[in-house]
Amino acid sequence: MLKGRTKELDSSPSKCRSNHNNYPLQQQGTSWKEDVPFFVQAIRVIETPVIFRLIVKHTTKEASALIRYLTSGESHGKGLIGIIEGIPAGLNISADYVNHQLRRRQQGYGRGGRMRIESDQVEILSGVRFGKTIGSPVALMIRNKDSQNWLEKMAVDGDDSGIEKVTIPRPGHADYVGYVKYGFDDVRNAIERASARETAMRVACCTIVRKLLEEFGIFVGSHVLSIGNALTKDRIKVDRAISRFTRASCGAYKVAEKADESQVRMLDKTTEEKAIAEIRKSKKLGDTLGGIFEVLVTGVPIGLGSYVQYDRKLDGQLAQALMSIHAVKGVEIGDGFANAQKFGSYVHDAFSVKNTVIARKTNRAGGLEGGITNGQTIILHAAMKPISTLAHPLKSVDLKTKKVVDARYERSDVCAVPACSVIGEAVIAPVVANAFLEKFGGDSVQEIRSRYKKKKPKY
Ligand SMILES: Cc1cc2nc3c(=O)[nH]c(=O)nc-3n(C[C@H](O)[C@H](O)[C@H](O)COP(=O)(O)O)c2cc1C
Repeated sequence: MLKGRTKELDSSPSKCRSNHNNYPLQQQGTSWKEDVPFFVQAIRVIETPVIFRLIVKHTTKEASALIRYLTSGESHGKGLIGIIEGIPAGLNISADYVNHQLRRRQQGYGRGGRMRIESDQVEILSGVRFGKTIGSPVALMIRNKDSQNWLEKMAVDGDDSGIEKVTIPRPGHADYVGYVKYGFDDVRNAIERASARETAMRVACCTIVRKLLEEFGIFVGSHVLSIGNALTKDRIKVDRAISRFTRASCGAYKVAEKADESQVRMLDKTTEEKAIAEIRKSKKLGDTLGGIFEVLVTGVPIGLGSYVQYDRKLDGQLAQALMSIHAVKGVEIGDGFANAQKFGSYVHDAFSVKNTVIARKTNRAGGLEGGITNGQTIILHAAMKPISTLAHPLKSVDLKTKKVVDARYERSDVCAVPACSVIGEAVIAPVVANAFLEKFGGDSVQEIRSRYKKKKPKY
């Protein structure tokens, strides 16, 4: 069992009702487009911190609020700060709800000593009043407990005389490129911000967005498919379990909950045992491991994203979000790579009709066609490379003396794939939410509800 799971939290989506249709969309209101003349709908291009642009319709009355967030903070600094903008008013949120996701990020067999020091707790500094968002930016803070051991080395004031500088980069990490790019004389400056410690704040920010999606019956979940050589072979059995779990009211989140019961977030016991043995072996050898995880999104309406412009394709945006996670080096949508080896007739998801509703018996496309959601579950895979800090190090160079030496070792994870899968769940939430808001957006949850009720495509 993963330590620290808190079933008792009211905010846990595990308590959601028996099917997606139970998400009441009772509020009535005026449609966003109906009362606005076409000519006043200007096109606005908004820069997001993650390079891609989203084009949104802008009316004289209101702008469709798009979500963006920024994080700040060093691994051993005082803490992490996040600002998230574009969350509509009226969303119920609590620090407990966010902390539950932060705890999930900290778990998993193979984590290093840092996770035993930290027990991440978020503080909500602004944007929430009496448990509800008020439409203004939400500011979050997570303190680094470990910072107490780094006060001198991470001092904001003073100078670095007397501080031992790091001059030996770890191959595979951001040490060398950061040192050269920013003209540092101390690799520590690169280590501190490049560290995946930053993902704690990303998870915190994205959890608020996730909560927004859940209001509309859209749930995200994940599980780990492989760690090193321990691969899920019986995919059919796992898929059968997933389709059972996703029938729960909280859809894909049920998969996440089931995966959380495993130390490596795997749904298949045999593979789980192999994975734990692999991690143990790797630790003994002073080595590290990566792996592959799957992220699922259920309850997604048809029509999010667009094919009309490259940067509006939802598949591209989702891939970018996953690739932005530290150490993720491959992303696949649906059966992307396996499909490339097959005839088209074995790949594409044929249409059928079930009780007058258009349906598909398969979902090899992973819920996306033409950069647009097709109403099926979104299925994403991401590959995480092995951790680059090795107890049995590769060769490096001392940048001061130019001598070949062993790479530096500092306290590190042996395997962080389970944690990475939780981060994967989080980072895609703003992408899905922005596509959702582009179509159904409004200034408050209530307003979005009424628009969603009116405009949700029927097929
Ligand atoms: C959850 C998580 C934990 C990580 N823990 C470590 C770690 O303990 N040691 C390490 O060297 N790299 C760790 N990494 C990977 C590095 O952060 C990453 O390799 C580094 O920032 C360089 O970026 P790149 O691999 O994307 O090129 C972790 C990544 C994630 C997602």
